[in-house]
Amino acid sequence: MTTTSEIAAPETIKTVLLGVTGCIGAYKACEILRGLQKRGVRVKVVMTEHATHFVDPLTFRSLTHEKVAVDLFDDPTDPIHHISLADEADLFLIAPCTANVMAKLAAGIGDDLLTTTALAVTAPVVLAPAANVHMYENPITQRNMNALHDFGFKFVEAGEGYLACGYQGRGRMADPELIVDYVMEQLEGASTAKGQDLNGTPAVLGQDEDGALSASVRDLEGKKVMVTAGPTVEPIDPVRYISNHSSGKFGYAIAAAAAERGAEVTLVSGPVSLDAPAGVNVVRVTTACEMLEAAGKAFADADLAIFAAAVADVRPANPFNRKMKKGTDDAALAAIELVENPDILKTLATAKDQQFVVGFAAETDHVVENATKKLKRKNANLIVANQVGGGRAFGQNDNEIMFVEAGGASEPVSGTKAQLAQVLLDRVAPQL
Ligand code: C5P
Repeated sequence: MTTTSEIAAPETIKTVLLGVTGCIGAYKACEILRGLQKRGVRVKVVMTEHATHFVDPLTFRSLTHEKVAVDLFDDPTDPIHHISLADEADLFLIAPCTANVMAKLAAGIGDDLLTTTALAVTAPVVLAPAANVHMYENPITQRNMNALHDFGFKFVEAGEGYLACGYQGRGRMADPELIVDYVMEQLEGASTAKGQDLNGTPAVLGQDEDGALSASVRDLEGKKVMVTAGPTVEPIDPVRYISNHSSGKFGYAIAAAAAERGAEVTLVSGPVSLDAPAGVNVVRVTTACEMLEAAGKAFADADLAIFAAAVADVRPANPFNRKMKKGTDDAALAAIELVENPDILKTLATAKDQQFVVGFAAETDHVVENATKKLKRKNANLIVANQVGGGRAFGQNDNEIMFVEAGGASEPVSGTKAQLAQVLLDRVAPQL
């Protein structure tokens, strides 16, 4: 039973306008809708005419208990339906978003209710594209996505996989769960972080002076940013390896945030299961030595270099080129010789020039003291320090960090990794 204290006050209930366009992924919009409702969000649905061929509007009406909007002219009581829909939305999510609708949005075309509403909306617009791999990778679609990205549209990128058309490749709409998480993060952006800013006043994370999301601040325009992320994987033999639990989420969030703020971003990523953030050049590597080489190239002309990767400390000196077998190869396995991996941050920062260098320090104790030592030892300009252990940091969405610079340490700031990525860039951008 729901008690009155569990019912959110009407003014705190957010409205997501869910746009559904015509492709097979339309059925997954039902799952997104339910996921958002479970998180306390009111969802209203607007569909293109093509979408109604895949899912009947009645399905969405039954799930939302609200009228489903399809036709520009079908509501005689509301002659300017697209404006009232647009005004009601705290966020407009279009999922799935076809290549056709992205093309129309990029060109500013409003020829049905969904696209005119998208033109009229002032709330953030999030697109979850879905298309056949060739349509998705078509340079025109890619150009349109880049243009929309530059206009401030946000993306939950399509993933790779088996497509309804029988093809294998990129174009499958991101998982509904991921889309719901992203939307919630955007909705909660400004209000949920419980941190303090560095002067000790409560931080309003993710908002600029005008109340706009800080992701729309283009203060990194013309800047080159290099980010390392994820773990490195050091082979023992073709099936075994040495690695760690890094999810890469923070590095990816930083790269996404920097791209949103206008930077040209190269993300050097170890093996992770995350999709490339929109507008980011991702260089995928496996080992620490490969990461050093790729990071070195991007570092040379970077204005900002952020080393968020969890690089394996050691690697097998001589990886076996066949699978070592228990029983027969025990002696060889027990005698594996390990050598130290290069310290990528230290190697590159020691020879730094114009680059502002940010390193990370995950510490179990004496966080500030250890991070301060690391700042000097690695020749970094700033260390993002966080306490680990007890299930914190690795793989989680939320985190608590401190900034350690030559002048001292900041107060702890907490929030989602996406929010903290913005806070980090807020701090660094004026110093570039
Ligand atoms: O020495 P420690 O691993 O604690 O240092 C952490 C910082 O150094 C992180 O920013 C990490 O990305 C970077 N690092 C690196 N190469 C290594 C080890 C750490 O770039 N081999």
